Amino acid sequence: MAARKKVVSVVGARPQFVKLAAVAAALDETGSEHVIVHTGQHYDDRLSDVFFSDLGIPAPAVHLGIGSGSHGVQTGAMLSALDGALEAQRPDWVLVYGDTNSTLAGALAAVKLHLPVAHLEAGLRSFNRVMPEEHNRVLTDHACDLLLAPTQVAVRQLAAEGLAARTVLVGDVMTDVCLRVRDGVLAAPPARPAELAAHPDGDGDYLVATIHRAENTDDHARLARIVGALAALPLPVLLLAHPRLVARAAQAGVELRAGAVLPARPLPYPQTVAAVLGSAGVVTDSGGLQKEAFLLGVPCTTVRTETEWTETLDDGWNVLAGADDVLADPARFAALVRRARPAGPRGTPFGDGKAAHRVTDALSAS
Ligand code: UD1
Repeated sequence: MAARKKVVSVVGARPQFVKLAAVAAALDETGSEHVIVHTGQHYDDRLSDVFFSDLGIPAPAVHLGIGSGSHGVQTGAMLSALDGALEAQRPDWVLVYGDTNSTLAGALAAVKLHLPVAHLEAGLRSFNRVMPEEHNRVLTDHACDLLLAPTQVAVRQLAAEGLAARTVLVGDVMTDVCLRVRDGVLAAPPARPAELAAHPDGDGDYLVATIHRAENTDDHARLARIVGALAALPLPVLLLAHPRLVARAAQAGVELRAGAVLPARPLPYPQTVAAVLGSAGVVTDSGGLQKEAFLLGVPCTTVRTETEWTETLDDGWNVLAGADDVLADPARFAALVRRARPAGPRGTPFGDGKAAHRVTDALSAS
């Protein structure tokens, strides 16, 4: 970065820490002043601290300690606390990441203080207005001064919304981190997860699953259908259970330990990459994991009716299997959870693993 800038990163939830790892390292290389503000949206060690330690991210300078709550309460508390935190820093840029309530609160807090604000992972759309993340994305993009787009698809979407002049294509910073961690895992593979090791068929093929989206966890009948479909799969299913899934399943009276399903705690990032690399396939509703499966060359089945990462659907690396009638028919669902890897090379729609340097260049140029 030619002109050294002061950047405040506002983060709070697990996928943001992965993106932050790439950006923090790139900002450090340029000698920029970088202040990390953690909203506290995620506070469990497995969802927060392990990402900082495993990915070598400096500890947050400011921790707002907001925690969980309804969307309004959580977002409002962050907005209120960010006022003072950002005012005290007066950075050249506030940088917000992804599509969580922490993203929207960071963007709103910055514009209200007339601080320049940039959105990393701008331009993604699911066009599903039931998702809280979709509102967070749209509102954040339209509030921000600089839109750092991960893909050509995102660039085109921002142009269609009249935002081309603020858009820069940088590539996907999660790809930077995923490829780096993959290389480390291949050099020194961690042990198989204990839940698999303890299973009678645990030394054979297995699937990795995650389910945490509100639209999948908060409707009792839908959650029961999803767990039923996972339970009927023909391979052990290592279900890395987000606390939201555990809480909602308990409320709904849905037993996660059913059939093929092996419930496990969320894994740290390197162990997640290793578990995916060693698996026959991924079943998920996570945006990040769909992309990581693609990058790691593992077939993915997405328990949603749409995806923001549409490039993963090309050539059959990812398949959508979230319709209610599919989930209600375990044989149909199982047929979509295929193991065969598509023939032919995968493209590189998410960039070359050097996106974070383009982020620092864009911040210094503006
Ligand atoms: C949030 C993001 C979602 C992202 C996900 C990654 C929003 C609207 N959603 O969803 O886009 O994919 O993070 O994980 O911002 N909880 C804990 N411990 C924690 C955090 C949460 O037990 O450290 C439980 C609480 O019961 C909480 C629930 O999980 O109410 C939901 O947490 P919240 O941060 O509101 O949303 P996520 O589902 O994690």
